[in-house]
This record gives sequence, C-alpha cells and structure tokens, in this order.
Amino acid sequence: MKVSVSFLKYQNSKEETIKKILATSADYIHVDIMDGIFVNEKNDDLDEFISLLKDVNKPLDIHLMVSNPKEYITKLQILKPLFITIQAEILNPLVYINQIKSYGIKVGLALNPDSKLSLLQNYLKYLDLVLIMSVYPGKGGQQFLKEVIPKIKELKGENVLISVDGGINDETINYVKDDVDICVSGSFICLSDDYEKQIDKLRIGGSYGKS
Ligand code: DX5
Ligand code: ZN
Repeated sequence: MKVSVSFLKYQNSKEETIKKILATSADYIHVDIMDGIFVNEKNDDLDEFISLLKDVNKPLDIHLMVSNPKEYITKLQILKPLFITIQAEILNPLVYINQIKSYGIKVGLALNPDSKLSLLQNYLKYLDLVLIMSVYPGKGGQQFLKEVIPKIKELKGENVLISVDGGINDETINYVKDDVDICVSGSFICLSDDYEKQIDKLRIGGSYGKS
C-alpha cells in the first residue's frame, strides 16, 4: 500500500510542510485543490501551487474538487503529475478524462461518500484510479465515514487502483488496509511532529499480506 500525503492542514507554512513531506518515505504528495463552487472552500491559486511544487522529487497525486476542471488541468499539467483525479459528480467527466489522458497523465475519478459506485460505470474502462472519499470533500481533519467501506470492497477486482481519502489515521486504516492500493492521509501526518513515524504507523497497519 502506498501512502499519499495531503497538506491541506499544516502547522507552520505550506513550504515547510512540503519540505518535511519530501524528507519522508511517503510515496506521493496529494494536492487538494478547491474552487469555492464544487465545495465551499477555495484554495485555487494555481500559480502558487506551481511554484510550491515545481521542483519536488515525489510524484504528485492531484485531487481537483472543482466543478469545471478544464483550465486547472491545462495549467497543472506543467507539473507532470502522476495522477490527476476529478470528481465523478461533475458534468461530463469524460471530456476531462480525455483531456488528462491527452497529456499522458494517469486519470482518477473521486466518488463522494453519498455517490453510488454506479456513477463510475461508464468511465471505469478509461480510469487508472478511483478515489473513494471517506469524508465529504472540502476540509481536512474530518472523521472517517465507515459507510463507504462496502464500496471499496465492491470495487476490488476491477482493473483499477483504489485509493481512499479522508480521516485516515492509525486506527481507521485498519478498515481499508487489505483492500486499497493507496491511502491519502493529511492531518494525521502534517499536524504531528514526526511525519515519518505517522507514515510508518499507516504502513504497519496497512502492510499485512500486501506490499
Ligand atoms: C478532503 C480532502 C482530503 C483531506 C485529507 O476534502 O480531499 O484529501 O485533506 O485530510 P485528512 O487526512 O485530514 O482527512
Ligand atoms: Zn483529497
């Protein structure tokens, strides 16, 4: 299981937080971007994200919580992210799925806690990753919603990477550790004073029988 670290919540500055993530064994940096429309919160200064992330040496896992991803994808592709994930609930996801793929970037669809797996049906064959939201998107530091677990179990067996995002800590990881390829964790890591120790705890929880 890979660990993707979200820096939506942090202690001092974003710059310092990213530096500290880069010094760990984390597999990916999870970049949460919000437009104030799809979710109430807004943090979409893309030039700032580009300057913060342009020289990082870990793969980027970008999560667009935005209702119209077109310009976001156009600008952010310069960072050569490993994944760009858009929300399945927006209009015409296929347009943006194709846009992401046209840059040679792996594509993900995120599913809100109250969205059904059937929403993915028409897109699954184009996807590299499904991001199961285990909180309602918009903020870090929320509680893991156990009701999403059946969707993760049902997705297993499909030819797609499964990632889980929201409220992941050393306890909640145990609910999903055997079924996900990637876990996203933010406040559990970035609000602690030892990032590596927290990442290790997720891996220990998440590593039984899986690499
Ligand atoms: C929620 C974001 C998540 C979140 C994860 O809107 O998509 O990536 O920041 O943070 P924690 O681990 O604090 O729930
Ligand atoms: Zn996210």
